[in-house]
Amino acid sequence: MDENVDFNLMQLDLVSKDVKTVAINCLQWGDTGKGKIVDLFSDWADIVARGTGGDNAGHTVWYGNNKYVSHLIPCGDPSKTNLMGNGMVINPKSLTDEIGMAKVHSINHQNLMLALNAALILPFHIVQDNLSEISAGENKIGTTGRGIAWAYADRINRSGLFVNDLLNKDSLARKIKKNYETKKFFFNSHDSQLVRALLDSMRLENSLYWDEKNLFNLDAIIEKYYFYGQELKDLICDTDKFIRQSVGHKKIAIEGAQGLGLSNKYGTYPYVTSSDCSPYGSAEGIGLNYSQVDLSLGIIKAYVTRVGNGPFPTELGGEFSENWCNNSSIDREKELSILKGETKFDQGNIPSKDFMFGMKLRSIGDEYGATTGRPRRVGWLDLPLLRYAMNFGIKDLVVTKLDVLNDCDYIRVCNAYQYSGPQYNYGNKTLIPGTIFRETVMDYDVIKNCKPIYVDLPGWKSDIGDCKKISDLPENLINYLDFISKETGASIKILSTGFRKENIIFA
Ligand code: GDP
Ligand code: IMO
Ligand code: MG
Repeated sequence: MDENVDFNLMQLDLVSKDVKTVAINCLQWGDTGKGKIVDLFSDWADIVARGTGGDNAGHTVWYGNNKYVSHLIPCGDPSKTNLMGNGMVINPKSLTDEIGMAKVHSINHQNLMLALNAALILPFHIVQDNLSEISAGENKIGTTGRGIAWAYADRINRSGLFVNDLLNKDSLARKIKKNYETKKFFFNSHDSQLVRALLDSMRLENSLYWDEKNLFNLDAIIEKYYFYGQELKDLICDTDKFIRQSVGHKKIAIEGAQGLGLSNKYGTYPYVTSSDCSPYGSAEGIGLNYSQVDLSLGIIKAYVTRVGNGPFPTELGGEFSENWCNNSSIDREKELSILKGETKFDQGNIPSKDFMFGMKLRSIGDEYGATTGRPRRVGWLDLPLLRYAMNFGIKDLVVTKLDVLNDCDYIRVCNAYQYSGPQYNYGNKTLIPGTIFRETVMDYDVIKNCKPIYVDLPGWKSDIGDCKKISDLPENLINYLDFISKETGASIKILSTGFRKENIIFA
């Protein structure tokens, strides 16, 4: 914790004495700065709890001058209870490594709790994830390769394992063998050398699980997973019961993972993750009902990013940008060298001004995945998406990364979409080319055919790093926020003006 920073959330009207459970969720496609905002709320909370996803997430927190990325453990004050709930998928190696890494950073969690009924990620899931992405070719989702979908799928199809299985060696062995039986055919239908190459990675214990004859060495998996169970056994408990006993009198901050647009239920399916990472799902994933949340805060970035594939109407540079960012040879260093003019594009591959502007924003905002390092696709703020999100019982917003737009001559905002696809039946409506939407329609066939209608607002062209209160902010920035509020009905409560904890303004 940065002791020089004193935030009194109680100064905010919205965190009144009656507010005991606060949910903090991203309303875009992830990476909106949940880590920073949850860290802020962890000073207020007794319990910080996460209910969805696994080590596909990457949440960044700055402790003084040290950057720290957490993938599984909820962010913030380690002296509080940090709880990983039943809706998560847990890779025990990742969690063990993360606990070790936290200690290296002198982050000593005093009360970590891990749901005994969270789903377990097995080595098979990671290999399945990577094999299916390779086979999908250009139709791939662009997953993080952490086995997330396959672990959730096993839970749904009743062949999955739970965290508690790590504690009982005999049943662990029986269940791992049984789980493998359901996958043999899948693995045997792939090139065994590809499976071998995938298993030869640090995440998969550098070939420990490889078996020349049977592909997977099940005994090695059982031994190692039991070992992780012993490492984690002090954390594993009935978190559902704990949360139900705490709700209403302890202060609980729910840390959302991913974002509404990535929700398996409410996002841009199939280009989503495999949990319901909407505000509803994040509450359910810790054993609560969303109606038990007293304050639901939505986080948006002042612009939008997306990692991996999938529709993104306001993307700067459109399809070129999507392909560029999903090309594994592109990284931060390569883009920096392009922006400095040291590296040129190939002839015939000259990108648009919009794409180049997006790359510039990516560089200023350091929009490179906290989990995979991939360049995040960048686009303008999307109000139809925000209006859609407001249906999830959200009135109050946090807007982050405003400082990234400091240099913009103008700020573009998408205020509506125009449908340009073929005639399409959506429920009892028939969409025809030219149909205008004020609110995103979460149907892939619709959204991929939507063109943004933009409004341009003047930029503020000044540094906002030193602004401490609303009245310090430039007028054009206030106008931008007012425009968002007026157009969506949202009330903007917290502004983030830099990556540091002190770069925060309560509205
Ligand atoms: P999360 O997944 O929502 O927790 O977000 P990530 O940690 O993946 O990405 C957000 C990134 O933006 C991190 O590098 C943060 O340190 C950084 N960040 C958060 N808020 C701000 C802000 O207001 N301004 C700037 N420049 N960076 C921010
Ligand atoms: P945080 O919590 C951004 C995306 C992946 C991919 C899709 C499916 O840091 O905001 P998966 O590995 O989950 O099966 O991948 O979901 N994705 C994220 N994008 N931020 C995240 O988490 C993400 N977690 C998953 O890029 O498009
Ligand atoms: Mg992230």
